[in-house]
Amino acid sequence: MKRRHPIDYSRVKTRREVLIRQRRDLWTPEQVGSLARHFRLKPGMGLLDAGCGFGYALRTWGRFCMPGGKLVGLDRDRKLLAQAARFCTKEGLGKAARFATGEICSMPFENNTFDMTLAHVVFCHLAEPEKALDEMIRVTRSGGCVAVFDNAMTGSPGSRWNNWHQPTTAERLLMYEVGLRMTDGRRKVGFGDWSVGCHVPAWMEGRGLIDVGVRTNERVVWIAPPYRSPGQRTAYTNTREHMREPVRWDRVSKSESDQMRAGGLARSKFDRCRRRNRLEHRAFRKAMKRRTAAYAWSSPFWCIWGFKP
Ligand SMILES: C[S@@+](CC[C@H](N)C(=O)[O-])C[C@H]1O[C@@H](n2cnc3c(N)ncnc32)[C@H](O)[C@@H]1O
Repeated sequence: MKRRHPIDYSRVKTRREVLIRQRRDLWTPEQVGSLARHFRLKPGMGLLDAGCGFGYALRTWGRFCMPGGKLVGLDRDRKLLAQAARFCTKEGLGKAARFATGEICSMPFENNTFDMTLAHVVFCHLAEPEKALDEMIRVTRSGGCVAVFDNAMTGSPGSRWNNWHQPTTAERLLMYEVGLRMTDGRRKVGFGDWSVGCHVPAWMEGRGLIDVGVRTNERVVWIAPPYRSPGQRTAYTNTREHMREPVRWDRVSKSESDQMRAGGLARSKFDRCRRRNRLEHRAFRKAMKRRTAAYAWSSPFWCIWGFKP
């Protein structure tokens, strides 16, 4: 039986939280420009964003192909594509952009069609990411660029600090173990791999791509009272809104129990970790309410690119 992927990006809440809000300042303008130079983007080029969602990467790097560029977004979700088209129109890219519904592992395009093909946060959701890479290389013309942006988490949860709870070493070890086993289970049941970015440079080299390069995202998300700057005020409002979302601490979903089983994680450890997360969440809410909350956080997220010989 085909398992349903636990992350549904067509859900309104997920769209708002992840695909719009998180993307807004994911790559800084300096990094966007620097990556565009590495990708050798020029006006008039054809760019494919495979698994484009709302078209964040298509709109961000598509600009460097203007004027004259041809932008194509592919996704298997029609609702997301319709919104991507609206965003493109709003940002003056409507005439240059078109969209196709399809699977990243069997795309409806001829060989050697695009000057650049990219996938932004798609590989970590795929059961067979190497097949997607093969397909991206197939549709890219000789001399063109193939780029994969994705998570490169290998167990240690990213760097983080907050002023409402300092976890003990025992708590940290518990969180690492639960995180590692759930991640391992996630990969084994075919929901994707949060460490996929780490594999991509070798996959690209192994397929003969040249001038392979890798950069990490430099973003650190942080808030600190009195949340004075415009960026801080937005981050504080977003966080407060996020904290209002109800969390079902008492429920274990089917996909969670599948991942637990596949990753060899004991239910008792999962429950212990949840109880501590619940307490921490409560302390976080209180600190937000009193406007005393401060935190800083970053996680490993890479961009890997190479050129088709
Ligand atoms: C995390 S979202 C990223 C969307 C967009 N690239 C971005 O960064 O905002 C993952 C996207 O990949 C799409 N997707 C997942 N599996 C896919 C597949 N096998 N073929 C095509 N699209 C897929 C989803 O519909 C979703 O839009």
